Formats: sequence, C-alpha cells, structure tokens
Amino acid sequence: MKIKQVILIGLLLPASLVFAYLNGRDGGSQPIAYNHNMHVQENDMECLDCHVYAEDGARASIPNVELCRDCHEEASTESEAEAALLSYVNDNRRIPWRQINVVPDYAYFSHRRHVKLGELDCVACHGEVGEMVKPVSEPFQEVTMDWCMDCHEARNVSNDCYACHR
Ligand code: HEC
Ligand code: HEC
Ligand code: HEC
Ligand code: HEC
Ligand code: HEC
Repeated sequence: MKIKQVILIGLLLPASLVFAYLNGRDGGSQPIAYNHNMHVQENDMECLDCHVYAEDGARASIPNVELCRDCHEEASTESEAEAALLSYVNDNRRIPWRQINVVPDYAYFSHRRHVKLGELDCVACHGEVGEMVKPVSEPFQEVTMDWCMDCHEARNVSNDCYACHR
C-alpha cells in the first residue's frame, strides 16, 4: 500500500464513523430527523401538500428544499433538526433523502393507478405515517411480489405476469 492510500484511509475511516454516529443519533437512516406527526397532525398538512404526485403520477415524490423553504427560511424552533434543515435551505443544497419503499425497475408500479383509480388510501400500503415522529426507516409492508399479488387476488385485480413485468 502506498503512503497516500494509508493517509486517505486514516482520514476517511474516522470521518465515516463520526458520520454514522451522528446519523444514528438524530436522523436515523435519514439526513434530517423529519417528523410527520408535527406537520400532519399538529399543523393539518395533507399528504399531497408534500408528496405532490401521489395521486396523479407513478412516483409520489419526496419533497426537498424548494418546498421546505416556504415555511423554513429562518428558525422557528430550537430544534437541531430544524437547524440542519436550514443549512440545506440556505446553501440551496439537496437533502439526500434515502428512498425506503422501492420497486425494482423491472416491475411496474404506479401511484395513480392505486390511489386515483383504485381509490386506496396511503394507509393501506404505508401504515399511519402521518403519526410518525421519526423518519420512515423501513417499509410498512416489505415490498415483495407476494405482497402485490396477495392484494390483487383479494381484490380481483389481474395477476398476469405482463401486468407488472411489461
Ligand atoms: C398500493 C400500495 C400503495 C399505496 C396505496 C400508496 N403507496 Fe406509496 N409506495 C408504494 C410502493 C410500492 C412504493 C415504491 C414505489 C417505487 O419504487 O416506484 C411507494 C413509494 C412511495 C414514496 C417514495 C417514493 C416515491 O416517490 O414514490 C412516497 C413518498 C409514497 N409512496 C407516498 C405515498 C402517499 C402519500 C400515498 C397516498 C396518497 C401512497 N404512497 C399510496 C405503495 C403504495
Ligand atoms: C406549510 C408550512 C411547512 C412546510 C412546507 C414545512 N414545514 Fe416543517 N414545520 C412547520 C411547522 C408549523 C412546524 C412546527 C414548528 C413551530 O411550531 O414553529 C415545523 C417544524 C419542523 C421541524 C422542527 C421540529 C422538529 O421536528 O424538530 C423540522 C425539522 C421540519 N419542520 C422539517 C421540514 C421539512 C424537511 C420540510 C420540507 C420537506 C418542511 N418541514 C416543510 C411547517 C412547515
Ligand atoms: C411537510 C411535508 C410532508 C407531509 C405533509 C407528509 N410527508 Fe411524507 N415525507 C416527507 C419527508 C420529508 C419524507 C422523507 C423523510 C422521512 O422518511 O420521514 C417523507 C417520507 C414519506 C414516506 C416514505 C417514503 C420512502 O419510501 O422513502 C411515506 C410512505 C410518506 N412520507 C407518506 C406520507 C403520508 C401518507 C402522508 C400523509 C398522512 C405524508 N407522508 C405527509 C414529507 C411530508
Ligand atoms: C393494497 C392492495 C394492493 C397492493 C398492495 C398492490 N396493488 Fe396493484 N392494484 C390494486 C388495485 C385495487 C388495482 C386496480 C386499480 C384500478 O381500479 O384500476 C391495482 C392495479 C394494478 C396494476 C394495473 C393492473 C392491470 O390490470 O393492468 C398494476 C400494474 C399493479 N396494480 C401493480 C402493483 C405492484 C407492482 C404492486 C406491488 C409493488 C401492487 N400493485 C400492489 C391493489 C393493490
Ligand atoms: C402485481 C404485480 C406482479 C405480478 C402480477 C407479477 N410480478 Fe413478478 N415481481 C413483482 C415485483 C414488485 C417484483 C420485485 C419484488 C420482489 O423481488 O419480490 C417481482 C419480481 C419478479 C422476479 C424476480 C424475482 C426474484 O424473486 O428475485 C421474477 C423472476 C418475477 N417477478 C416473475 C414473475 C412471473 C413469472 C409472473 C407471473 C406468474 C409475475 N412475476 C407476476 C411484481 C409482480
């Protein structure tokens, strides 16, 4: 190993440990300790105010600084999480949210189909997210083919392979 590599590892390893520690401490698996309950229950926001494509798009979308900025331009609380948010907002940096519920590219899933046409509530698939005080860290239901097919069977929806694998 060359000396430069040794130095690099020496620098990166402690940094990654500090990062892991800070991450575990406030945001869990997410960069900011976002609190759904505070927005949805205490401040009457609707799911679609933030996940703006959840009814008409394939992907619901996770909001970022453009939207948060509407209400968080300056501190309104003493919260560490809000301070972290403000540094993203003021530097105009993307918040690197990690997507928790994921369908692989080789299968097709559309929110519109389920929310608008199927008239399913978010809760049916995601649980009571609006009451969560910590970020979503795991799917409410593991996203597997069996999960999709069980609900389709129960509701008489097609389980033809080509419906989902186009
Ligand atoms: C039939 C089950 C189902 C329903 C109903 C549903 N979702 Fe989802 N949701 C999923 C699945 C599956 C994924 C992963 C999709 C992917 O990777 O494309 C997902 C992903 C998401 C994501 C993250 C990624 C993204 O941009 O799509 C958000 C946010 C989300 N859903 C919010 C909502 C909201 C808000 C509602 C209600 C308006 C809702 N969902 C209704 C199953 C559902
Ligand atoms: C429509 C206004 C509105 C929008 C948009 C909004 N928030 Fe908030 N947020 C609030 C209110 C109200 C509070 C409660 C703080 C208070 O009492 O002043 C709050 C509090 C917070 C806090 C501090 C409380 C805590 O849990 O520690 C964080 C962090 C936060 N919001 C994150 C976000 C993020 C991230 C976004 C963008 C995805 C966002 N907010 C978008 C209104 C909003
Ligand atoms: C003020 C904006 C805001 C509102 C209102 C809001 N969310 Fe979210 N939502 C977020 C943010 C920010 C994240 C990413 C952080 C996290 O996971 O908590 C998120 C994450 C999610 C996820 C996880 C997505 C994934 O797979 O990574 C789901 C599911 C979700 N929200 C559903 C809902 C539902 C259902 C409602 C209404 C009851 C709702 N949200 C209301 C901002 C919001
Ligand atoms: C909670 C129940 C439920 C779950 C879970 C669910 N679906 Fe569905 N799905 C429905 C319903 C209801 C419809 C019919 C909507 C309508 O009326 O058009 C549907 C329709 C569809 C269609 C259109 C079918 C066609 O005839 O062309 C596809 C594709 C689809 N779902 C994919 C998925 C995938 C992929 C998953 C898992 C990641 C999934 N669904 C999970 C309830 C569900
Ligand atoms: C309702 C939607 C849906 C239907 C219908 C469906 N699939 Fe899938 N399939 C998925 C999803 C979502 C995944 C990815 C999640 C997972 O790996 O469980 C998947 C994954 C797969 C995989 C990768 C599997 C693995 O386990 O790694 C294969 C192969 C597959 N499907 C074949 C089929 C065949 C063959 C049919 C018809 C008998 C079928 N699928 C019908 C949604 C569907």
